[in-house]
Amino acid sequence: MARNKWFETVAIAQQRARKRLPKPVYSALLAASEKGVTVNDNVEAFSELGFAPHVIGATEKRELSTTVMGQEISMPVLISPTGVQAVHPDGEVAVARAAAARGIAMGLSSFASKPIEEVIAANPKLFFQLYWLGDRNAIAARVERAREAGAVGLIVTTDWSFSHGRDWGSPAIPEEMNLRTILRMLPTGLTRPSWMWQWGKTLRPPNLRVPNQAAKGEPGPPFFAAYGEWMGTPPPTWDDIAWLRKLWGDAPFMLKGVMRVDDAKRAVDAGVTAISVSNHGGNNLDGTPASIRALPAIAEAVGNDVEVLLDGGIRRGSDVVKALALGARAVMIGRAYLWGLAANGQAGVENVLDILRGGIDSALMGLGRSSVHELVADDVLVPPGFTRALGVPRDASN
Ligand SMILES: Cc1cc2nc3c(=O)[nH]c(=O)nc-3n(C[C@H](O)[C@H](O)[C@H](O)COP(=O)(O)O)c2cc1C
Repeated sequence: MARNKWFETVAIAQQRARKRLPKPVYSALLAASEKGVTVNDNVEAFSELGFAPHVIGATEKRELSTTVMGQEISMPVLISPTGVQAVHPDGEVAVARAAAARGIAMGLSSFASKPIEEVIAANPKLFFQLYWLGDRNAIAARVERAREAGAVGLIVTTDWSFSHGRDWGSPAIPEEMNLRTILRMLPTGLTRPSWMWQWGKTLRPPNLRVPNQAAKGEPGPPFFAAYGEWMGTPPPTWDDIAWLRKLWGDAPFMLKGVMRVDDAKRAVDAGVTAISVSNHGGNNLDGTPASIRALPAIAEAVGNDVEVLLDGGIRRGSDVVKALALGARAVMIGRAYLWGLAANGQAGVENVLDILRGGIDSALMGLGRSSVHELVADDVLVPPGFTRALGVPRDASN
C-alpha cells in the first residue's frame, strides 16, 4: 500500500525532508550562520508568546483574506523568496502552483533555479526579489526583464554580510552538475534512492544555474559565479534604493530585511510600499534578535506609512496570528514551504499552506476574533523583556 504522504505539522514535514534529501542538500536548506543563535531565536521566540483566549465569543466563520502590495490573498501568508529550489525537479514552479492553488502570492528569488517567465505562468501574483549585484545597468536589465514578464512587485533584499562559517559545517555543493561532479556525489545520492530516482526520471541533474541573472532565454551563470559577483559588488546606499524605487515606477516595492526603527523610517523616506521585518531567516548576521522581537517597535513607528510584514521562524498558524497581533499585516515563510517541497513536491507545499490556514483559523476561533483584521496586541501575552526596539535612542527603547 502506498505510504500516506500527508503530514500534520511543519515539524513532521521537516523530518520527512531530512529522511528524503541527501545530507548536503538538507543542510543547504537548514542554512543559518555561525553558532545558529539567530535561526534558533526566530523559532523559539514564538514559544515565549502566549495567548489570551476567550471562553465565549467565537464566531461560526472566520475571515482570513487580506491584501498585500496590491494583491488579494486568501490568508496573510506569502512565499518568501529562497534561492535554488533544485531540491525538487519542479522547484519554484511547484511552489508557484501550490501558492496559486491556495490563493497566495509568491516572492521569486533572483537566485531561483527556474526562469521568471515559467514561474509567473504558474502564479501571476509574483514579486521578483533582487539582490544588489553588478552595476546599475545590470540591475536595471534584471528589473526590466521582471517587469516584462509581468511581476506585480519588487522585493529588494539588502541584509547580507557574507558570513560563511557554521559550527556544524557547511554543505559541499558543487559549482556545476556535470559528469565529474555527479560521479563524485553519487555515493551520497545513493543513500537517498527515492530522491535520486525522482531526478533520474527527468534525465537531467539538478540545475545549479541562476537563469534570472541573465537575459531571457539564457541559462544564466552558475550559482557560485553569481555569488562571487555579488561579493565583489559595492553594497547599496540609500540613494541606490531611491534610484531603484524610481526605476520600478509606481508599482509595489518592498525592502526586505529591516530590523531597526531608524532603517524602517529611512525606507519610508525612500518611498517603499512595504518592508519585511526580517533577519534573513537567521542566515545573515548571527546574534541579531528574532525578527518577532523587533516587530512591535517597527510596526508602531511606521505601520501607518507602509505595509509591515514579518518573516523568520513561522512554523504554525498560531505564529502567524501572534505576528499579526503584534503589528504585521502578513507574514512570509521560508523553510516551512521548503520542507513541504522536499517532502512531497507541490502537494507538500499545499499541505504546509493548509496547516497554516487551519492554525490561523483555530487561533482566531480561540481568541474570539472573526477576522485577521480584528487581532490586537491584547490577544497576545508578551512577557517582560521580550521585545527589542532596535535603532531608537537608548532612553526611548526598553
Ligand atoms: C535556504 C534558504 C535560501 C534563501 N534564499 C533567499 C534569497 O534568495 N533571497 C531572499 O531574499 N531571502 C532568502 N532567504 C530568506 C527567506 O526569504 C526568509 O527571509 C527566511 O527563510 C524566513 O525565515 P524562515 O525560514 O524561518 O521562515 C533564504 C532562506 C533560506 C532558508
